[in-house]
Amino acid sequence: MSKTFVIAGTDTGVGKTLVGAGLARALSLSGRYVVAIKLVESGCDDSRRGSEDGHVLALATGQSEPIEAIVRLAAPVTPALAADLEGVELDFEALVEEAREMSAGADVTIVEGAGGLLAPLTWRHNTRDLAREFGAPIVLVSSDRLGAINHSLLALAALDGFRVSALVLSAPDVPDASTGTNAEAIRLHAVAAGIAVPPIVMLGRVASVDDAAAELGDFAATLVGGVWV
Ligand SMILES: Nc1ncnc2c1ncn2[C@@H]1O[C@H](COP(=O)(O)OP(=O)(O)O)[C@@H](O)[C@H]1O
Ligand SMILES: [Mg+2]
Repeated sequence: MSKTFVIAGTDTGVGKTLVGAGLARALSLSGRYVVAIKLVESGCDDSRRGSEDGHVLALATGQSEPIEAIVRLAAPVTPALAADLEGVELDFEALVEEAREMSAGADVTIVEGAGGLLAPLTWRHNTRDLAREFGAPIVLVSSDRLGAINHSLLALAALDGFRVSALVLSAPDVPDASTGTNAEAIRLHAVAAGIAVPPIVMLGRVASVDDAAAELGDFAATLVGGVWV
């Protein structure tokens, strides 16, 4: 049976695409048929198409479709607003259905959200709704920098009742004094804050999706609960 995971972030620019692509690559390398999808991507630019999230995800698996986000929007603002600016109507249910069709038969489907957890994908839906719609557990990504404790606990609080497979703390390009301390701090304070914390996975600074795949390999294996080959 196909397993779907939704990659959510505590913010934009925290490492969702890198984590999603790394997991997708690791699972592909283990012989699984993986499809990695971005439903709606804003900030798209034809001159930089190859570095768009949807394309990076597709390259990680080698899938034939989709090779970019299902809907590409130009304005570098939250998708619902970018769609308004272009006069594009986003049909959430239709997008989900399209993603389901494109990943039919896949062992694993990875769906990257847009922006932070509650950023509007449409004015009525966000990444949390994606997880609900796909019935999928969430992999929450946060950047291992100052602010990670608050951002991670806020997002986890907003995910009460949802299945969260892990919190991934991704290394920032410029480390600060909190980098390396946040995982333990989140665990410690979660008790007082009354927030359940999933397993925390660390992703160090990596130079490529392949390197991310290598670092996330063990985590990828536990995600699908299979034998790592
Ligand atoms: N652990 C890491 N090592 C190296 N680069 C990283 C790491 N985490 C994030 N980045 C880089 O930071 C930028 C933002 O990450 P990205 O995955 O695009 O975030 P998001 O999808 O959440 O917007 C990208 O250039 C990405 O390659
Ligand atoms: Mg991204």
